[in-house]
Amino acid sequence: MVNCSSDLIVTMKIAVIGPGALGALFAAYLSRTVGNEIFLLDHYRQRAAEMNNRILLVDDGREFSCPLTITADAEVIGPADLIFLCVKSADVAGALSGARPLFFSESLLVPLENGISHLDILSPCDMAIGVTAQGATLLEPGRVRHGGNGLTRIGFRQTPSPKAEKKLNKVVNVLNSVGFITEITTEIDSYIWNKLLVNVGINALTAIYDCPNGKLLEEPARSRMLAAVREGELVAEARGIRLPHDPQETTLQVCRDTADNISSMLQDVRRSRSTEINAINGALLVEADRFNIPMPVNRQLVRELEHTLKLRSVPERLSKNALFP
Ligand code: PAF
Repeated sequence: MVNCSSDLIVTMKIAVIGPGALGALFAAYLSRTVGNEIFLLDHYRQRAAEMNNRILLVDDGREFSCPLTITADAEVIGPADLIFLCVKSADVAGALSGARPLFFSESLLVPLENGISHLDILSPCDMAIGVTAQGATLLEPGRVRHGGNGLTRIGFRQTPSPKAEKKLNKVVNVLNSVGFITEITTEIDSYIWNKLLVNVGINALTAIYDCPNGKLLEEPARSRMLAAVREGELVAEARGIRLPHDPQETTLQVCRDTADNISSMLQDVRRSRSTEINAINGALLVEADRFNIPMPVNRQLVRELEHTLKLRSVPERLSKNALFP
């Protein structure tokens, strides 16, 4: 095992909320910068203590020990310059209320959730949404495998304050400096929907078929996946969202690029944890209803996933108010 280190000098207090796969991955990589203070906030006191102020990062077959402060007490962290929100969509409101001590007038919040249902809860002021294709699998609490260095895009949904804009430039530099390819976009809604449609196609089906992403390239899953994405595309069109790439082709490409990955939804089902079906296919159904767009394929996926969860005795939401999965 080797210690993470680098010679990068930057100075920000950065908090990552949520010790799931993505939160652990971001926290581990950020701990490689020198001069920044990096914190990971977990609502679970015992788990936070057991992680013992380090994340184990499995990357390219090697294991790295990445030191940082892990705590369940937001007061210990105090006001942070930059806050990455890495909890499940359904847990956003609870997580933010538990993390109040992190926020001050200069804080920049960067939510990285899958799906769209959390967007209405978040106030757009000085918040830049992140959409990432970084692959991460949580092997056990505090131990994460980096499954692929996908591009991260971050952008404001409304005109930001000059201070927030400057901070976002700094954030992007910090992420790039530790090898997370990151760019700023002025079209973040397009990328949110682009990722949503990939998740619509992949996540529920991998959970239903209990298979890695690459298996969806085979029939009958392939046709179902493409049909689900096509329905989503119709909703995006109705909403006036310009999709940057062909969503069906993008979804097929993600299946190829992440062929061995276990999707986040299948990871949740296998661990008997609540899934993000309501934030992904479920949220799409809500949007479709607004435009009277029939969604037989997505409706069926939601039904089948519910059935799968019942068979495996996974409650759809383990706890409505849980801060973290
Ligand atoms: O949720 C996931 O697992 C990921 O967003 C993706 C892109 C489907 C890859 O597994």
